[in-house]
Formats: sequence, C-alpha cells, structure tokens
Amino acid sequence: MFKSYVLTLSLLLLTLMQLNSALEFHDCGSKTGKFTQVTIEGCDTTKSECVLKRNTNVSISIDIALAEVASAVKTVVHGKVLGIEMPFPLSNPDACLNSGLKCPLEKNETYRYTATLPVLKSYPKVSVLVKWELQDQNSIDIVCVEIPARIQ
Ligand SMILES: *[C@@H]1O[C@H](CO)[C@@H](O)[C@H](O)[C@H]1NC(C)=O
Ligand SMILES: *[C@@H]1O[C@H](CO)[C@@H](O)[C@H](O)[C@H]1NC(C)=O
Repeated sequence: MFKSYVLTLSLLLLTLMQLNSALEFHDCGSKTGKFTQVTIEGCDTTKSECVLKRNTNVSISIDIALAEVASAVKTVVHGKVLGIEMPFPLSNPDACLNSGLKCPLEKNETYRYTATLPVLKSYPKVSVLVKWELQDQNSIDIVCVEIPARIQ
C-alpha cells in the first residue's frame, strides 16, 4: 500500500519535472497553415525558456506547411508579460521580403521562414511569452507560435 503510494508520487514528480524542463512551442491559433519546426539561435531546448540576451539580434526560423495560398505575408510579434501583450517592433514586418519566403505561397507547400528579433538593451529582464504570428493578406493567422523566453 505504502510502496505503491510512493511509486505513484515519484512518477507524478518525474512527470512534473519533465513538463517543466523541455521547451515547448505552443500553437496559439494557426489557421491556414501549421508550423513543423521552430529554431532559435542560442536557445537551449532542454530548458523551459529560451534565453534572449539583451543588445543582440537573435535569428529565428520557422518551418511552415500551408493549407491555403497566401498572396501576402506579414509578421506580427507580441511579447506577453504578466498577461499583458505588448508589440515587439520588427524592422522588416513584410515576411515576403528577405525572409526566405517566395510569395505568393502555394497551397500544400512547405517553407522555411527566417527572421531577426532585435533584443534591445532597454528591455527589462523578465520572462516573456513571445507570440509570433505570420498573417496572410486577410490578416488571418497562417501560423501562430508562442515561444517561452526570458530576457537577460
Ligand atoms: C541588429 O541589427 C540591426 C539591423 O541590421 C543593426 O542596426 C544593429 O546594430 C544590430 N544590433 C546588434 C546588437 O548587433
Ligand atoms: C493538397 O493536399 C491534399 C491532401 O493531401 C490534396 O487532397 C489536394 O489535392 C492537394 N492540393 C493541391 C493544390 O495540391
């Protein structure tokens, strides 16, 4: 009786530890596509958060598979701190330009999108949920991915 209780408890703890350790990219509402892989420069995926160093440009790539055509693609990035969403301004919000995408994007195709996220010196050292959206010509999310991060 006691043994099985201990066993259950240790399994539960083990599961919780695993939940806490690996980085998870959460889908926050992809509509006309989906992401298959996300890569962030210098990000240790065995940790629960990506460390973003201030005063650096961090490169990010997202592999996407499309279910619908997209004639235009816009990047929209927000940072969520304590539940409050703030825009993360990008120097190049047009994802059809210099982002590895050839627009229009075709249905049933896969693409690798790349971008640079400037992590400014002025940003506070906080944990932030980075919400990365690629929107089509109708402002519908092709993909939406949430990246748990910590600014350092
Ligand atoms: C990041 O990239 C921008 C644009 O290329 C550049 O102006 C800026 O100096 C870079 N910042 C750092 C910290 O390297
Ligand atoms: C896209 O893929 C689906 C399912 O695999 C298929 O039924 C459809 O014909 C494909 N469409 C195009 C335009 O290739």
